[in-house]
Amino acid sequence: MHTYLVTGGAGFIGSNYIHYMFKKYGDDIRIINVDKLTYAGNLENLKDIENRANYSFVRADICDKDAISAIFAKDDIDRVVHFAAESHVDRSIENPEVFVQTNVIGTAVMLNCAKAAWTLEDGTFKPDHKFLHVSTDEVYGSLEEDGGYFYETTPYAPHSPYSASKAGSDMLVKAYMDTYKFPANITNCSNNYGPFQFPEKLIPLIINNALQGKKLPVYGDGKNVRDWLYVEDHAKAIDMVQEQGKLFETYNVGGHNEKQNIEIIHIILDTLRDMLPESDPRRANVSDDLITYVTDRKGHDRRYAIAPDKIKSEIGWEPETMFAEGIRKTIKWFFENEEWMKNVTSGDYEKYYDSMYSNR
Ligand code: NAD
Ligand code: DAU
Repeated sequence: MHTYLVTGGAGFIGSNYIHYMFKKYGDDIRIINVDKLTYAGNLENLKDIENRANYSFVRADICDKDAISAIFAKDDIDRVVHFAAESHVDRSIENPEVFVQTNVIGTAVMLNCAKAAWTLEDGTFKPDHKFLHVSTDEVYGSLEEDGGYFYETTPYAPHSPYSASKAGSDMLVKAYMDTYKFPANITNCSNNYGPFQFPEKLIPLIINNALQGKKLPVYGDGKNVRDWLYVEDHAKAIDMVQEQGKLFETYNVGGHNEKQNIEIIHIILDTLRDMLPESDPRRANVSDDLITYVTDRKGHDRRYAIAPDKIKSEIGWEPETMFAEGIRKTIKWFFENEEWMKNVTSGDYEKYYDSMYSNR
């Protein structure tokens, strides 16, 4: 039985991954979820599984090496899946330091604690113990509008403080693999969407604002392109890479689903109109007139697009959820979880939202 240490499991992708893993493996795995519970971490995301005997939660900061080494000392953890990070580009532009702290220093602590716990007397590592570092396509920089893809061999060229800090964390993982033969993989994934995504990110923000008749802020000309992947497909890719990937390799994960931001917004509006019955009072709020062009994000990357050829040919993973289906599932989830949205948008998020958008 594998014992997983999942960092950042109370966040968007981490919580979807934990749900996916229990759906797939049931009682045949153990998961220890370590999360600091920043504004983005929410234990409500895990309420259906929190009482499982094979799940436990530890509130800790990944930068706290005593807390992390104590977790490794308590159990023979043979799988680490490292999600914990500051993840929002706009916040990194406002306050880069916490991104360096969590994403770079926190990853160094995770690597060091795993290395210490897994090193045998002869200097080799315990067999079949593996670390998977979850990273982003943003480390590769920006593509031209008219072509090209990110491959695993594409040189790193991050632009935002967020992507620079993720690039730094990837480089640390690569350094551990090269220097110590530390057993790890890196995945670089494109934009995710789906249940439990915090509404600072484009898709949940647009769904939430449209239902309330609030402005839909479009940065710049709205023609920046992202490659959208349904979050459960990402969770599956992570598990497949960890179990079937070649150690020390990087795998790009992407949806082959490039869309301009403005197209995404129109798809959401059309889908909301289609899904909301005439009798639902929120239907009257949903209008194209809400679309509002605002000041562009500083250093806004123009286009991201992943070539997921390697993960397909070596491991057999491909995206399964078409965007039209994934966005309906996502909207349905938000309809059924209004309380979740109310809870995460109250308090501090409201303050953040007002300050972020008041001067745009
Ligand atoms: P998120 O912001 O929703 O969740 C991050 C989680 O990490 C939260 O639960 C938070 O409480 C926790 N955390 C933050 N700082 C911590 C610390 N110092 N110690 C312990 N826990 C801490 O992020 P997400 O969108 O779920 O992204 C997860 C990972 O996937 C990140 O590493 C991100 O870079 C990467 N990624 C995200 C996307 C995307 O589209 N969201 C795409 C590719 C890669
Ligand atoms: O590519 C993977 C990355 O995707 C992850 O590594 C990041 O953690 C994740 O946050 C995401 O980054 P983006 O910056 O691409 O996602 P975001 O949802 O913030 O923005 C998507 C696009 O929409 C981007 O071009 C900016 C634009 N946008 C965003 C917001 C929040 C708007 O036009 N208006 C908005 O209000």
